[in-house]
Amino acid sequence: MKAFIKTRYGGPEILRFEEVERPSVKADEVLVEVMANSVNPADWHILRGKPYFARLSYGLLKPKHKIPGTDFAGVVVKAGTNVTHLKAGDKVFGHHLKGGAFAEYISVPANSCALMPTGTDYTEMACVPLAGSTAYQALVIHGQLRKNETVLINGGSGGVGHFAVQIAKACGAKVTAVCSSKNADFVTGLGADRVIAYDKENIHQHEGQYDLVIDTNGNLSHADYKRMGKRGVMVGFTTMGHMMSVSLRKAFSRFPLAQFTAEADAMDLDVLGTLIYKNKLKVHLTQTYSQHDIPEALSYIEKMRTKGKIAIRWLR
Ligand SMILES: NC(=O)c1ccc[n+]([C@@H]2O[C@H](COP(=O)([O-])OP(=O)(O)OC[C@H]3O[C@@H](n4cnc5c(N)ncnc54)[C@H](OP(=O)(O)O)[C@@H]3O)[C@@H](O)[C@H]2O)c1
Repeated sequence: MKAFIKTRYGGPEILRFEEVERPSVKADEVLVEVMANSVNPADWHILRGKPYFARLSYGLLKPKHKIPGTDFAGVVVKAGTNVTHLKAGDKVFGHHLKGGAFAEYISVPANSCALMPTGTDYTEMACVPLAGSTAYQALVIHGQLRKNETVLINGGSGGVGHFAVQIAKACGAKVTAVCSSKNADFVTGLGADRVIAYDKENIHQHEGQYDLVIDTNGNLSHADYKRMGKRGVMVGFTTMGHMMSVSLRKAFSRFPLAQFTAEADAMDLDVLGTLIYKNKLKVHLTQTYSQHDIPEALSYIEKMRTKGKIAIRWLR
C-alpha cells in the first residue's frame, strides 16, 4: 500500500510517499481502507517531536511510528477475531494518536472508531474524531457542563473550537466565544450567543463571569481562569513556559482546572455521530486536499489560524 512515512523528526518536507507493507490485524483491531483524513495540530507536533517532552511517548531520538496521521474515515476491510460490533463493509470514522492514518490502510483498536451516521460522507466524518472528541470531552466529561450554564470558549473558530460552540449549544448552555474579528460572523452562525473579538477586547482584562471556561487556544493564565470561571478546562497550549506556569499555579490552588489529553473512545464518537445525524453538529470545511498534498495541508494547519477543519480526500 502507499503511505506517507517519516524516519526522523522534522517539518512536512521530510515526509515521503512510499510503498509499504499493509498492516496486519490483531484480535481487537479492525483494518480500515482509508477514504479520507483530516489534519490536526497534533499531527505536526508529533511530526516535529515538539514540545520535546512528547518524544518520551513518540520516540526519544527518532519517531517510533513511521506513518503519521491521526484522523480517518473509511471502510472496514477486516475485523479481528475478538471484534463483534464492526464487520467488513462497515463505514467508520475514528482516530489513533500513535499515527498510521496517512496511508491507504490503517489497523486500529476497534474501540477507537464508530459507525458513520447515515447520509454523511467520508470527508466530513474524517474531520470529526480528534477535534470533536476533544471538544466533547472538554465540555461534558472534564467540564461537567450542564443545561442553562454559561460557558466561555476561548478559541471558538478552529477545529476544536467550532465543535465546542455547537456541542455547548446542544447541551443547552449559554455560549460566549472568543475569536478574531474576521471570524466573528462565522462563530455567531455556529450558535454562539455572544462573540468577543480578541483583537478588539483584551480577554485578559475581560470581567465576564462564567460557570465554565474552556481554553482551546491556550493563552489564558491561571488568574484568567479564576477571574472568569467557577471551573476551567485547558485544552490547547501556546508555549511550554505558559503551560508550565498554569500547571504550577494549579498545583497550589483549589480552583478546579482540568488538563487532559483526548482519548479515542467509540462511545464519544457515537455521541458525535448522533449529533451530526440530528443536524445539531456540522463540520465546517475550509479546504479539501488530495492525499498527495498532505504535507501542504500540514503546513497550512501549522499556522494555527484554521477556520473549522481541513480535510484530505483519497483519490484512487
Ligand atoms: N488536550 C488535547 O487532548 C487536545 C486535543 C486536540 C487539540 N488540542 C490543542 O488544542 C488547540 C486547538 O486545536 P485545533 O485543532 O482547534 O486548532 P486549529 O484548528 O488550528 O485552530 C486554532 C484556532 O486558534 C484560534 N486563535 C489563534 N489565536 C487566538 C487567540 N489569541 N485567542 C483565541 N483564539 C485564537 C484561531 O482562530 P482565529 O483565526 O479566529 O484567531 C484558530 O481558529 C491546539 O493547541 C491543539 O494542540 C489539544
